[in-house]
Parts: sequence; structure tokens; C-alpha cells
Amino acid sequence: MTQNGQAKKAVIRVQRFNPDVDRKPYLEAFELEITDDTTLLDALEHIKNYLDGSLTFRRSCRHAICGSCAMNVNGANTLVCNRRVAAFLDRKGQVTVRPLPYLPIIKDLVVDRTSFWEQYLRVKPWLIPPAGYDDSLPATSEFRVTPEEVAALKTAETCIMCGACYSACQVVAMNKKYIGPHALLKGFLRVLDPRDGDPAGRLEIVGGEDGVFRCHTIFNCIDACPKGLNPTQAIETLRKLAQKRQAFEAARLERQKSL
Ligand code: SF4
Ligand code: FES
Repeated sequence: MTQNGQAKKAVIRVQRFNPDVDRKPYLEAFELEITDDTTLLDALEHIKNYLDGSLTFRRSCRHAICGSCAMNVNGANTLVCNRRVAAFLDRKGQVTVRPLPYLPIIKDLVVDRTSFWEQYLRVKPWLIPPAGYDDSLPATSEFRVTPEEVAALKTAETCIMCGACYSACQVVAMNKKYIGPHALLKGFLRVLDPRDGDPAGRLEIVGGEDGVFRCHTIFNCIDACPKGLNPTQAIETLRKLAQKRQAFEAARLERQKSL
């Protein structure tokens, strides 16, 4: 450990599971020295480098931007690369790290995110050009978006696809067909983007039987999101728009004439 501050002992209880040898997951405790600056990811890296090289987890950027290190810490989903161990220690100096819940475990802290990505693709997360737009020709004008239109997106574009909201969602836990908060937030982003050419088609998908009307408004997604995003509010907006999707598409076509 190389951080500042006085070193102290901490116990990191990590859920282990190797499908080749274990019948079910179990907790394993590792004692190590931390300082006030030691992150949960630092602690996991220390365990892997010095105590048990078989410990398996995902991480990449270490800066809360790649979304790969989402885990469940003391019962709540979070990123581990930007959270300090000291903030999670109980009176016994322990913290418990588990994989994201409600997803199949591949090994230790690594979960299978296949359903997460499949649902994401259902909302067509890419921009669809307006009808008649030929992207093989050189652009002759800009797609101009007003500051008000950007503000309406409510920073949804800062989602890092970490899966913390998806895995915290009780509806996802019960029904893997549900599109899920992460993908509905992306659908919101595309539906409200004035450059997009298929808002009615998108609203048909997100307003369908696996979409926004399945949400029970439990707010777990908001509590779990490490970026402070609000998928529930986006879902609420999509619910309203889905009920008037043809009128919304007509207004979009009018708007695009001024682009
Ligand atoms: S909405 Fe938040 S919790 Fe959900 S995937 Fe995006 S960043 Fe992660
Ligand atoms: S390692 Fe990239 S978000 Fe944590």
C-alpha cells in the first residue's frame, strides 16, 4: 500500500466462487494494512498480488469511467475503484465485497453481463439519421441542438454502463426480459435527441411489454448509480412520451426541418 495516512488493519471479506470446484459461493477473509486513502480496488489488487493470485475481478480504468469494477459492497452496488475502504469498515474493521447480485457468477467477483448487453442492444443505442439523410454524401449543414435540448437530456450521456443500476433492480431480479434501467436511460437519451430520426419506433420498443410500464418505481437504480443519474425519472418521461408517440414523432419531423 503506497497511500498517505497512518496504516491500520482492515479485514476484507470477499465472496469466492470457482464453478470448477465449489458447490456454492462462500466468504473468505483477508487481513491487510490500509490507510485512509486505500480504495477498495487497491485492497483487491493487494490481495491478488500478495495473498491469493487466484482472486478474480474486473477492473480497467481506475478512474470511475470504464464501468468494469462495479461490485456489491456491504450490500450496496458501487464502483470499487473510487471508494475508500475506510468509509465501509464496520466496528470490527471489516468490509464485505460480493459480485453484482442477480447475475450469474462466472468466478469470484466476475458476473456474466450477457443479459445486460442484450437488453442494451434492444433499444438501438446508436443515433438513427432522419429519413432521407444520406450519410454517404458530404455534410452540407450542421445538426444544431439548442442548450435547452441538451439540458433536457439531464446528463444521461454520462452513463458508464457499469451495471450497478441493472443489478440493483428488483424487476430485473424477477424478470430478465425487462429492458432495465441502463437501457431505458439510453433510450431516453436517443428519444429526446433532436437529431434522431426514429423517436416513434424507439417509443414503441421502450413502451412495449418489457419496457417502461414494468418499472415499479422502487428507486434502487438511483441509489445504486455511481454517476448520480436518475433512470427512474427518464423512465417516467418515456412513459408519458410513449402514450403520444405519433404526435411526438410529428413534432420531431418539424423540428428537424430547422436543423
Ligand atoms: S445509469 Fe448509472 S448505474 Fe446504471 S449503468 Fe449507467 S452509470 Fe451505471
Ligand atoms: S476500474 Fe473503471 S470504473 Fe472502476
